[in-house]
Amino acid sequence: MSRTPPPIEIDASQAAEGGPLGMSPARFLRDYWQKRPLLIRNAFPGFVSPIAPEDLAGLACEDGVLARIVSHQREGDRWLLRQGPFEESLFPGLPDRDWTLLVQDVDKWDADVAALLPHFDFLPRWRIDDIMVSFAATGGSVGAHIDQYDVFLLQAHGHRRWQIDDRPDPPLGFRPDVELKLLQRFDPSHDWVLAPGDMLYLPPGVPHHGVAEDPCLTFSVGMRAPSAAELVGDWVDAMIAEADDALRYRDPDLAPPADPHEIDAAAMGRVVEALNLLRMNDPDRLGDWFGRFITLYRASGEAMPGDAQRSRIEVEWDLQAGGVLHRHPWTRMAWRRARKGARLYAAGQDLALPARDAQAIAAAPAIDGADYERLSQAGRDAVIALLEGGHYRLLMPGDDAGDEDEAAP
Ligand code: SIN
Ligand code: CO
Repeated sequence: MSRTPPPIEIDASQAAEGGPLGMSPARFLRDYWQKRPLLIRNAFPGFVSPIAPEDLAGLACEDGVLARIVSHQREGDRWLLRQGPFEESLFPGLPDRDWTLLVQDVDKWDADVAALLPHFDFLPRWRIDDIMVSFAATGGSVGAHIDQYDVFLLQAHGHRRWQIDDRPDPPLGFRPDVELKLLQRFDPSHDWVLAPGDMLYLPPGVPHHGVAEDPCLTFSVGMRAPSAAELVGDWVDAMIAEADDALRYRDPDLAPPADPHEIDAAAMGRVVEALNLLRMNDPDRLGDWFGRFITLYRASGEAMPGDAQRSRIEVEWDLQAGGVLHRHPWTRMAWRRARKGARLYAAGQDLALPARDAQAIAAAPAIDGADYERLSQAGRDAVIALLEGGHYRLLMPGDDAGDEDEAAP
C-alpha cells in the first residue's frame, strides 16, 4: 500500500502546534529531517531581522570574520568570488544588482542573532555549526549548488526566490569554468518566493538556487556532521596518543611457514588481532574522545586565557555583586552521562562532574551568582577552571555589552 508523501509546503500560522516547524518536532524529524525538503511559511511570523545590512557589512570588515562577496556578471555568465575581510570603502562602490555578501558564524559575533538558536532546540546543539547571514542586492545569487549539510534558510528581510530540485538522483556535475562549485545543470522541480519569516529546510545534497527579488537578508542555520574519514582520523590519533608501545603484532603460535615469502592467512589473522588491541571498547573512553572532538569540530575561532586574571575569591564576590559570566562565543559545550556521574565537554576538554552540574553548565550561555550558587563544589571548580582558560568573561552590571562584542571572540 503506498502512503501519500508528506506535503513539501506548510503554513505554520495555520498549524495547531506552535514553534517554527509548523508541526511537532517528532513529526518533522520522522518525515523531513535528512530526508526531504520542507517550505515552512510563517515559521517566524512577523520576523524582524535583528541585524541590518550595514551591520553585516561592518562585520565583514573585521579581522577574523569569514566573509565573501559573490558577484555575477550576467553578460557572459561570469562569477567573481572575493574573500574578506573587506575595506569599508568597497561597499559604496558596489553596483545595485547581482552581488551577495555572505558572513559565516554571525551567531558568534552578534548576541541577537545567537538568540535564534534556542528555536532549534529540537536538534542537538552540537549538530549546529553556525548562522550564516547573507545580504543580496536585487538579482544577487551564489548560483545553483548543493551543500553537504542540512540547512534551514530563514528569510529575514526582503524577498528571495528559491528554486530547488527534489527529484531523486539529480545531476551533480560542477561547472569547470567557475571557482564556486556551481552545478552544470539545474532543473528546478519547485519555485517559491520567500518573505520575511518564511523558512526553507533542505537536507544535504538537494540542488538549490536562491535569487534576491529585492535587497534581502537570508539567515542559514547550518548543521555540521563529521565525515567518517574525519572521525576515524581523529579517533586513531587519540588512540595512538594513549597507546602502549609494547602492544604489538605477535605470533607465539607461529608454525614453520610453507613459504617464508608468503603473508599467509594466519599472519593476516594476527594483523587483525593487533589492530583490535587498540579498539576503544570502553564506552567512557569512546564518549570522552567524541565529546572532546565534537566540541572543537569545525570551530573557526577559540577562546584564549585573558592576561588580567582575578582570583577566585574576587570572582565569587563579583558574582554576588551582580556579575555575570558570559561564555565565550567559540566555546562549544556538550555533556554526557558516564558510568559514574557525567562529563562536561568544553572546546575539546573533558571535566568529570555530577550530571546536574554538567547539564546546567552546558545549557547556560551565561552564569549569574544564583546559577553559580546552585552548582556543587565540583561544578564551581569547573566554572572557575573554564574562566581561567578564557571560556567565560566576567561582566559587571553597567559593563557595556558592546564592549563584549568588541572583545569577543
Ligand atoms: C545565500 O544565502 O545566498 C546562500 C545560501 C545557500 O544557498 O546555501
Ligand atoms: Co546552499
